[in-house]
Amino acid sequence: MERTLSIIKPDAVSKGVMGKIIDRFEREGLKIVAMKMVKLTKEEAKAFYSVHRDKPFFDSLTDFMSSGPVVVMVLEGEKAIERNREIMGATNPKDAAPGTLRHQFATDVEKNAVHGSDAPETAQREIAFFFSEQELVRLT
Ligand code: CMP
Repeated sequence: MERTLSIIKPDAVSKGVMGKIIDRFEREGLKIVAMKMVKLTKEEAKAFYSVHRDKPFFDSLTDFMSSGPVVVMVLEGEKAIERNREIMGATNPKDAAPGTLRHQFATDVEKNAVHGSDAPETAQREIAFFFSEQELVRLT
């Protein structure tokens, strides 16, 4: 079993599609083992995305991610990281395949509806950023 962090970004929350996104994860068989709604401060967004601190889009991205509430979730399942990335589609919705969440719900490469961890080490760090071990539900 693998775990990954999923974020429903401010654009998707304000569009009113968080239920549709959660429904998709459930229909795909990914189990939600933790979930909460938070509004990040600019500083928290900068800390979460610190790996991108030298990118030209860092300031704009962290402004956007702290602009409104987000839903953070831990998804669990076989190959959860890879499966979540398939369900999300490419970062840029212009490149995202039909049927993916970003194709359906993203506005542009920044306001791209959802975030998902990209590797096991990243997933561990990103889950720990938002959740303590006690907040993760044990399914078995
Ligand atoms: P995410 O999967 O959350 O990881 C980093 C985020 O940076 C990405 O989704 C986009 O929201 C954003 N991003 C990546 N590339 C660009 C870009 N070229 N311009 C603006 N934002 C970007």
